[in-house]
Amino acid sequence: MVLIIPVAVSLTLAAGAIAQGLNGSPFPDVTWPDAVSPNPAAVAGAQSNQKSPPKYPSPWADGSGGWSAAYDKAVALVKKLTLEEKVNLTTGTGWQMDRCVGNTGEIPRLGIRSLCFQDAPTAVRYTDFVSVFPQGVNVAASFDKKLAYLRGQTMGEEFQAKGASCALGPVAGPLGRSPEGGRNWEGFSPDPYLTGHMFAESIKGIQSTGMMASAKHFIANEQEHFRQLGEALDYGFNITQPGSSNFDDQTLHELYLWPFADGVRAGVANVMCSYNLVNNSQACQNSYLLNHVLKGELGFQGFVISDWQADNSGVSAILAGLDMSMPGDTLFNTGRSFFGPNLTIAVLNGTVPQWRLDDMAVRILAGWYYVDGDTKSIPVNFESFTKDTYGPLHYHVGTQWGTGLINEHVDSRGEHGALIRQWGAESTVLLKNDGILPLTGKERLTAVFGEDAAPNPNGPNGCSNKGCDIGTLAEAWGSGQGDFPYLVSPEAALQHEIVSHYGAFESITNNSALTQIQTLSRRTNAVSGVCIAFANADSGEGFINIEGNYGDRKNLTFWQAAEPMLQNVTTNCNRTVLVIHSVGPIEIQKYKDNVNVSAIVWAGLPGEQSGNSLADVLYGRVNPGAKLPFTLGASREEYGADVLYTPNQPVPQFNFQEGVFVDYRAFDHRNITPVYEFGFGLSYTEFEYADLQIEKCGAAPYEPASSVSDAAPIYGTIDNRTTTHLFPSNFTRVPLYIYPWLNSTNLSSAYGGSGYGDSAFIPDGALDGSPIATHPAGGAPGGNPQLWDVLYRVTATVSNVGSLAGAEVPQLYVSHGGPFDPKRVLRGFEKLLIEPGQSTSVTFELSRRDLSNWDTVSQNWVITDYTKTVFVGSSSRALPLTAVLQ
Ligand code: NOJ
Repeated sequence: MVLIIPVAVSLTLAAGAIAQGLNGSPFPDVTWPDAVSPNPAAVAGAQSNQKSPPKYPSPWADGSGGWSAAYDKAVALVKKLTLEEKVNLTTGTGWQMDRCVGNTGEIPRLGIRSLCFQDAPTAVRYTDFVSVFPQGVNVAASFDKKLAYLRGQTMGEEFQAKGASCALGPVAGPLGRSPEGGRNWEGFSPDPYLTGHMFAESIKGIQSTGMMASAKHFIANEQEHFRQLGEALDYGFNITQPGSSNFDDQTLHELYLWPFADGVRAGVANVMCSYNLVNNSQACQNSYLLNHVLKGELGFQGFVISDWQADNSGVSAILAGLDMSMPGDTLFNTGRSFFGPNLTIAVLNGTVPQWRLDDMAVRILAGWYYVDGDTKSIPVNFESFTKDTYGPLHYHVGTQWGTGLINEHVDSRGEHGALIRQWGAESTVLLKNDGILPLTGKERLTAVFGEDAAPNPNGPNGCSNKGCDIGTLAEAWGSGQGDFPYLVSPEAALQHEIVSHYGAFESITNNSALTQIQTLSRRTNAVSGVCIAFANADSGEGFINIEGNYGDRKNLTFWQAAEPMLQNVTTNCNRTVLVIHSVGPIEIQKYKDNVNVSAIVWAGLPGEQSGNSLADVLYGRVNPGAKLPFTLGASREEYGADVLYTPNQPVPQFNFQEGVFVDYRAFDHRNITPVYEFGFGLSYTEFEYADLQIEKCGAAPYEPASSVSDAAPIYGTIDNRTTTHLFPSNFTRVPLYIYPWLNSTNLSSAYGGSGYGDSAFIPDGALDGSPIATHPAGGAPGGNPQLWDVLYRVTATVSNVGSLAGAEVPQLYVSHGGPFDPKRVLRGFEKLLIEPGQSTSVTFELSRRDLSNWDTVSQNWVITDYTKTVFVGSSSRALPLTAVLQ
């Protein structure tokens, strides 16, 4: 049961206090099967029940780093607002009470609209006539920054056409600590550098269209199990709070925070705090993360929005840095809010200082002005919770509270399908090819096998939120998906390919028709045809459980009982092409080793044009140039860091003792040869690398930031007579809707509950708006600007020595050289299109940040004295060029 507690006496404690009382608990700590991490500090810094230090006050925005125009506009408006109007900006109106998944209160007096927050990172969720794009993991596989920007821009146009204000994406948390993590595919890659670039480009693309982007989920939201209390209890897990991701400061900076810093530097309008606890303090009221790191060190100028129901208090969360509560109610449809009227009360009774509310309002409006939301947005023209054209204005409470035109069915897609087809192909990774690919289309017989090739007989949107794995997998499940306008199945596309010139094509998409599969695969083999076998693996968000996969996968094997089918085909047909649609890593050593498997293609989650994108690659219209954005290991154990599936305590403790050694860093460190390594991908042509050159650039010495802010500004005067904050007379209140006004002049009973005015729980310094010193690693959005000074320019020559034009992704890795550093980390990549016989020069700029480690003592980035070595090549393990940096 969840207690709904008046804001000023919230039992949910502020950061630093949460874990008290759990110390000395009888529950055993998590231990890893072997020493994944060689870094004792990472092990020591990832212990059960460790605490997050309190950091107050919450820094106020100042418009620095390109935000001044937006900030000035926001300040000018906030000066005119009443207390309730400011509160209205900060609080959602309640789940399913307005048309988007999240809606703020509006300010009709000044013509300020309700801001519409809408999922998802891959499509506009919960509406029709939208595109379904290749998912984040595919964007990462493209290793193409331009693609990431254009996809963001194209998606942004669709959100804009639907009337949204904010697209709830992109995702850099989860980063992908464990290969089974349910939502890894919404994000990009377990490599923070690759994710950071794709995250930043996506943000810039989305925001170029007038949409705010949301950098989510901040932070270390690395598994679905135990992310939410109610969800876990419903599944029968006996826990008392969501799980806590526990890790040390260096791991925070070098791994999980890295892409968020890129996102903040790219100007993201808001950051969504996550469900999990971090070091035993809830991410949405973790003052260390929100106040000290995000708003302090990273100089974030936008606003922090809660994940839906991830906020568990009012005053505590607000003082710890939360600016907006979504969807506004404490839990869906309670009609109560930790913000709303409780925030009105908290400002009146002084537990939230006015400067803090003013800062919340300024940050929210600045985020909106920063993307030109005021001039580029149009009214919402869809309703998330029904596709009916006419219906209730407030879906959850039904038609008695007003009806109208709620779905205008606006087609937002333009010709985005052509781009999606192209991007699907450009993100398809060719893993193995004995020469069978590209196919000619003239094969005597083309035989397709596997349920994953076929449409879902219940329709492309046949399962709510894609909560099933029936037919081909082109997007995974949860809030990260949208409704397909169509889905081109591989079966349809390949059949079209063959039938268009009257060839022979047969498909068996029932994985249990083993007799028929045997007959067809033998016959195809006998006539030297080609067998194309499809298999998939799905995962998603924790609110849906498919066959015991509670969001996170429970293994790394194929779904849909594909193994017997694959066994059968690969035994009988010596020209088999294996096509994989998966959310991430999958165990395929035996198929790599099987000589009958002539080719393996990882197509990921390509979106609505799935079959066409694949056909373009298989038939050579697109020469594959994508690379694996994760490691394919032989078994899950090789990755080292696994999901915690069974609670180890009433507050589950996820101890990230592997530190920064995730994915390829773990394989490299433990000398495990992967099946296919991070960064690997074949082409139909071949590339050679030569001529590594290094130029040292003159950059000024690094200066820690040292300025001091102004005192917290206050805008306007709040009328502290309680009578002026009552509901307006004759006001019709929609039940369960969250309003900012009070019921009564008695603050103790104005919104239910008692005990207001008790400020004993307010953390030290939280109300203090005196000037604050800039964090030494801060000074601008993203961090100290000198971190991006270019220290070295590395060039190499890449030659296409084959006979086809093709794309290659030269990659640069750096060894930082210290005893606790990964063998090497990615620090550069470019996608190049090279004509046959041609050579191209590639240049990588190595910044100070790229060469630094986080120093926990000076709380800054430092370049250590250890030898720095650079490596350039075509994957994390094929690095022919190397040199030491002088
Ligand atoms: C919860 C998910 O974690 C988040 O990603 C999403 O944006 C919200 N729900 C809103 O649907």
